Amino acid sequence: MGKKRILVFSAVCLVFLFAAGTMYAATAVQDVIKMDNKAYEKHSKAIVDFTHKKHNEEYKIGCGECHHDDKGKALNDLKLGDDVKNCIECHKLPGQMPGKLKKEMRKNKASKKEIAAKEMEYHAEAIHENCIGCHKDYNKKNKTKAAPQACTKCHPKKK
Ligand code: HEC
Ligand code: HEC
Ligand code: HEC
Ligand code: HEC
Repeated sequence: MGKKRILVFSAVCLVFLFAAGTMYAATAVQDVIKMDNKAYEKHSKAIVDFTHKKHNEEYKIGCGECHHDDKGKALNDLKLGDDVKNCIECHKLPGQMPGKLKKEMRKNKASKKEIAAKEMEYHAEAIHENCIGCHKDYNKKNKTKAAPQACTKCHPKKK
């Protein structure tokens, strides 16, 4: 290769590398996700370290167990590198459903289904149902306590 062709070749390579780099940045997931959602003004509990990669690779949990589409249908065919929406984009209200609201709905004869649907509008309720729901089933089935159910096992006590 002549000097000029090497230069052109290098420039083309650089462009590709750059494009690949930005693509990666757009869809990369951290191995351990710090669950400090920015929709919260303030977290009342200590931040949870969620071992995203370990859950998938070591505990062998498919993407669709946690990620679903706008109808709640499991995204079983999701692959690493695909874009996926944050839970908060659909479970929009930060925090848990206020006990007062639940009481009020019951008083107004809302059905269990209606209350459950309202509950799922709250981010922390959806997260807890997903995480703790599976942990409970797993522990029961395997006669273990390996998957945390207690608050401080996920939200470590603030020092
Ligand atoms: C045990 C549950 C669980 C499993 C299994 C899981 N994820 Fe996730 N994933 C999450 C949670 C929770 C987040 C954080 C999202 C949030 O903060 O709203 C996340 C975040 C992500 C993000 C980053 C989203 C963003 O822009 O912040 C991507 C991409 C992703 N997951 C893809 C996957 C893929 C692909 C798989 C399967 C190979 C997978 N996940 C398996 C729960 C899971
Ligand atoms: C694109 C919108 C969207 C995103 C993003 C989303 N959800 Fe949902 N989710 C829904 C809808 C819609 C339902 C209700 C489905 C139904 O009525 O059966 C639902 C239901 C749920 C439920 C109730 C039980 C069930 O499976 O039906 C849980 C728990 C839940 N979501 C957790 C999560 C978690 C955790 C994340 C992030 C990892 C997430 N959702 C991301 C739309 C979304
Ligand atoms: C579909 C099942 C399932 C879901 C959903 C799930 N987990 Fe787990 N989780 C497990 C299993 C299985 C273990 C490991 C138990 C063992 O060590 O044998 C585990 C372990 C853990 C541990 C302790 C070990 C570690 O890797 O840190 C934490 C903390 C944890 N999960 C947090 C979460 C959080 C937060 C979510 C929701 C965003 C979540 N999990 C969702 C199945 C699940
Ligand atoms: C399996 C792990 C897990 C367990 C067990 C758990 N949580 Fe959480 N919790 C989370 C995650 C993950 C979030 C989402 C935080 C975020 O994305 O910003 C959360 C969010 C919250 C929030 C809203 C955010 C904040 O800090 O104000 C509250 C309140 C909360 N949890 C209280 C509790 C209480 C009380 C218990 C025990 C009854 C509990 N949690 C058990 C994982 C867990």
